[in-house]
Amino acid sequence: MDDQFRVLVIDDDDPGREVMELLLRKAGFHAQSVDNGADGVAVVRSGTVDLVLVDLFLPDKSGIEILKEIRQVAPEIEVIVITGHASAQTAVTAMKEGAFDYITKPVNFDELKIVIAKVREQQRLRSENVYLKKQLLERFQFSNIIGSSAIMQRLFERMQRILKTDSTVLIFGESGTGKELVARALHHNSRRKSHAFVAVNCGAIPETLLESELFGHVRGAFTGAVRDKLGKFEAADHGTIFLDEICTMPMHLQSKLLRVLQEQEVERIGSTKSVKLDVRVISATNVDLEAQVRQGTFREDLFYRLNVIPLHLPPLRDRREDILPLVNHFLDKFRHLMGRPSLSLDKHALDALERYHWPGNVRELENMVERMVALTEGDAITLDDLPAEIVDQGRGTGGLCLDLSPQGMDMPAVIADLERKLIARALELASGVKTKAAALLGLKRTTLVEKMRRLGM
Ligand SMILES: Nc1ncnc2c1ncn2[C@@H]1O[C@H](COP(=O)(O)OP(=O)(O)OP(=O)(O)O)[C@@H](O)[C@H]1O
Ligand SMILES: [Mg+2]
Repeated sequence: MDDQFRVLVIDDDDPGREVMELLLRKAGFHAQSVDNGADGVAVVRSGTVDLVLVDLFLPDKSGIEILKEIRQVAPEIEVIVITGHASAQTAVTAMKEGAFDYITKPVNFDELKIVIAKVREQQRLRSENVYLKKQLLERFQFSNIIGSSAIMQRLFERMQRILKTDSTVLIFGESGTGKELVARALHHNSRRKSHAFVAVNCGAIPETLLESELFGHVRGAFTGAVRDKLGKFEAADHGTIFLDEICTMPMHLQSKLLRVLQEQEVERIGSTKSVKLDVRVISATNVDLEAQVRQGTFREDLFYRLNVIPLHLPPLRDRREDILPLVNHFLDKFRHLMGRPSLSLDKHALDALERYHWPGNVRELENMVERMVALTEGDAITLDDLPAEIVDQGRGTGGLCLDLSPQGMDMPAVIADLERKLIARALELASGVKTKAAALLGLKRTTLVEKMRRLGM
């Protein structure tokens, strides 16, 4: 709260009002006053006061009316009612209408100061509370989704903006990029969070079963339908349905799905009764759905229905800044789960992880860290503990950049230079351990030593 607490006095009694204003100033407050209700409410609207002292009897409006108006336009501003006609009834009415307190004329200024101190304390607590709540929300909203790269930060902003909507979301992303994680986060931070999140992997359910899985059926609808079955759409009523791998949905179901989305109602197979639904639809695809639309294997109208808000989850190799935080996140998780709190990750191993292209994205990285924590014997995970494909790739790129340009340079010299640089880099990656450097280069240790001697290293 700012230093100068701002008090507005509304009173038609000129001398009383002026004295009050003066005393308030002397007590260190910022005071202003008006002699009628309309002006008083106007000052409140302008947002320049923290507290209002209002006389109950004014020429234009009663203090109670003013109190009600203030509570409406600025509920955070407290009102203290002052009355010259000490009437228990008006005091009670004032308190019921939300006055902070009431005092009687002639005003005992010390008493007033105590009440003002209480108002200030309450406002301070309230603003602290609002702040803390806001912080909690911000911190926990997507706290389980790691991503410090600019591209992920933009995604979070976008997610933040759609939390309040019911719009249909289509999530694009390669396998393992976190599509389901994002879908769940959208649900758990929305007003639907106390209702169900129902995930259906359209690609994993046989075509013949998918329809009744999604929409349900009634008993006797087809052979084998021995009892009524609730579909996933109905199960997700008031909540969210997540249609994963939507790209695999067969054409005839696409039309049915489109109808369900348009009508917001579903008919169980074999029934003529439709059920009204309130379901938010989030779908995901790991293939290029627009290409499928062009090829005619995915309905264009359904595509547009689903793709009201597109969210693109970038592959991990396009946001390498996220690798380190993700590695740390999963290291923490598995160290804890497997009871190995002191296990660390060697810098060279980390370098290799940061350079690897992660075709399986975050899922691959998570599995990889889990394996390393489970299998590493020493106190630190080193290059030796990583699978060959990661180490190999790390060696392939990662700064082994050579300038081979100088025209007219004789080839043996160029090659010798190249070899020196490769060996130096390999030694650096292997922290000077020749056996490791040799392994990185695909050489025997003795060959490496011999080469280094020949190259004068
Ligand atoms: N940004 C992230 N932060 C933390 N964990 C993540 C992140 N992205 C993905 N994961 C984790 O990686 C794993 C794979 O994520 P998820 O299942 O959401 O991916 P997906 O895109 O749905 O994959 P698929 O297409 O294979 O179904 C999960 O264990 C998930 O918790
Ligand atoms: Mg998935």
